[in-house]
Amino acid sequence: MASLTIRKLDEGVKTYLRLRSAKNRRSVEEEVRVILGELIEGREEPLTPFAAPPATSTASPSQRIGAVPVASITLIIGGGIAAYKSLDLIRRLKERRIEVRCVLTKAAQQFVTPLAVSALSHERIYTDLFDPQSEFDAGHIRLARDCDLVVVAPATADLMAKLANGHADDLASAILLATNRKILLAPAMNPLMWNNAATRRNVAQLQRDGVMLIGPNSGEMAEAGEAGVGRMSEAIEIATAAERLLRPPVPRPLAGKRVLITAGPTHEPIDPVRYIANRSSGKQGFAIAAAAQAAGAEVILVSGPVDLGDPQGVTVKHVESARQMLEQVQAALPADIAIFAAAVADWRVANEGEQKLKKTSAGMPPLQLVENPDILATISKLADKRPPLVIGFAAETEHLIDNAKSKLARKGCDWIVANDVSPATGVMGGDRNTVHLISKNAENNAEITVDSWPVMTKEQVAIELVAHIVKSVTGKSLEPAS
Ligand code: C5P
Repeated sequence: MASLTIRKLDEGVKTYLRLRSAKNRRSVEEEVRVILGELIEGREEPLTPFAAPPATSTASPSQRIGAVPVASITLIIGGGIAAYKSLDLIRRLKERRIEVRCVLTKAAQQFVTPLAVSALSHERIYTDLFDPQSEFDAGHIRLARDCDLVVVAPATADLMAKLANGHADDLASAILLATNRKILLAPAMNPLMWNNAATRRNVAQLQRDGVMLIGPNSGEMAEAGEAGVGRMSEAIEIATAAERLLRPPVPRPLAGKRVLITAGPTHEPIDPVRYIANRSSGKQGFAIAAAAQAAGAEVILVSGPVDLGDPQGVTVKHVESARQMLEQVQAALPADIAIFAAAVADWRVANEGEQKLKKTSAGMPPLQLVENPDILATISKLADKRPPLVIGFAAETEHLIDNAKSKLARKGCDWIVANDVSPATGVMGGDRNTVHLISKNAENNAEITVDSWPVMTKEQVAIELVAHIVKSVTGKSLEPAS
């Protein structure tokens, strides 16, 4: 089987993967696995990083049927009375779309049957280091490595002692020694065993070795009249801890920042039924709104008439004309970052008809045009409420960079995202975009940088732009998880 090194992927793909995986609370590898799974299943879902996160424990059984596992765990069940709780643990993990392969120690089989474990995990179970069926291709190495996490529940004093001291005389201990994945132990034992000096030494050693522990909790023991620290954590606690290790917290680098975005065309009325418009679809502005929201920002999107659903978690103000757009933009201030992606009509009709204009023999009605307010320039030149970072767009059909540079100076914004919208590019209304980011140096405004990006989808452009914003606002880069 070929292996894939995320680091070696193209920058655009990496950026796309890291934001999509962050959004979906998965590691980059998990995300790649899900994407491949979706492709194999022939799902038509667009590869958007802004899709809703995968179904978790709230998903109904029917929603889960056929769901692609997002991670896999090798679960070692040790021999203790708490082993019965591992059955519930399997269920809880599977609810979270985590694939579970179970290994039972010899002692564990005294408490739970291989049949019950296999029925719950929907997988064959593993018990023997020298099982000819699985060991012909080094099965214990596969169980140790072909997973994202190894969980031991219950982790008995004996299993912990073996791991702390590097024993490998049965399948469970061989896996624990051979794995290069994180290990999570859920200890369960009598309080006296837990407090025994040998166990204390082993726990300290395991913690030094980077092994993670959940619990044990304090409470009543199975042995009548005994209580203390030693009860295995509840299945739901272990599942949550495992999930946290598999899906690290989503980076929210723009948390606490307010981002104002304009998108779409404007419609400038001629009379009650006619208007002047342009071909803007609003896709780029909407993608930026979704990417900024995914990065943790509070997003206000002021949109002209478009055929798109409101992005999740974004406050959307729908407007028609340039003047309404300006009004909503002003009402949304103050903001930390303002991005003007709308294709605002430069002119409107001065003599807008109150009634539908009629065809007459006198010829065509005279349409007088007056200039619309320039929203980008107005906000860039505000004395008091100017957002610290103002970004405009320059859609050009010729002399792209030169026109964009002079627009940057004329409008007074900080960055311009310039794109070629000649009909041959298919950018207007299309899904892909080729852009150049033209930015003023924050310290020296006379210094202009031009950063040309390869052709990307509008979602990728949005992700890349948000990554640049994060860098500029927080000084931090969004690095891929692997
Ligand atoms: O002058 P031009 O229309 O090419 O400038 C494009 C940039 O200015 C875009 O960011 C657009 O959203 C913004 N703009 C605006 N109000 C206008 C015209 C353009 O905000 N009336």
